[in-house]
Amino acid sequence: MRKHVPCRLGILVSGSGTNLQAIIDRIETGEIHAEVACVISNKADAYALSRAARHGIPVVVHENSSFSGRRLYDAATVEILRSYNVDLVILAGFMRILTDVMVDAFPHAIMNIHPALLPSFPGLHAQQQALAYGVRYSGCTVHFVDCGTDTGPIILQAVVPVEQDDTEETLSARIQKAEHRTFAEAIKLYVEERIQVIGRNVLISN
Ligand code: GRF
Repeated sequence: MRKHVPCRLGILVSGSGTNLQAIIDRIETGEIHAEVACVISNKADAYALSRAARHGIPVVVHENSSFSGRRLYDAATVEILRSYNVDLVILAGFMRILTDVMVDAFPHAIMNIHPALLPSFPGLHAQQQALAYGVRYSGCTVHFVDCGTDTGPIILQAVVPVEQDDTEETLSARIQKAEHRTFAEAIKLYVEERIQVIGRNVLISN
């Protein structure tokens, strides 16, 4: 049972934060019964930080340069998330692979969005990988995070067509529209306690 009502989200970002914005907007309209407890960025110049500040959300710049390893960095991240009583961690364009320190601290409570239909095209430049491979459809995947690169149990996916004249930019833009809807939907399912994880399978109840 969740300790806090509404569900408290800790959102980790590195860049422009359009997914963050989509989540904030759906919380503000009441579609998702949650609260953004904090936004943490590993980049001081991430535009996502301005978006959060505009909505009065506490922001933390948490750069990795002063940490001698990934696990130490993650341990400090866990401390920050705990200090904001976070229930669910959202990786919204957070460009780091998590270690067991983070994953074990929030079991089945860390979600990531990836711009491809996993398990195809994990890692960086997923849209470019899809174009180079010549697939007719790509899309996005929301999954729970484990210690691998985009390997955790899949929660939701959305399919997006690939057009013959697509560039990385045009395909990314089409996928991002799907990301905003799909990420919000997955968070809503979690908040409504409709998700159960059994091994690699994620069961969703009505
Ligand atoms: C998205 O394309 C997401 O799939 C990937 O990073 C990007 C973040 O974009 N993980 P934004 O910062 O939410 O605009």
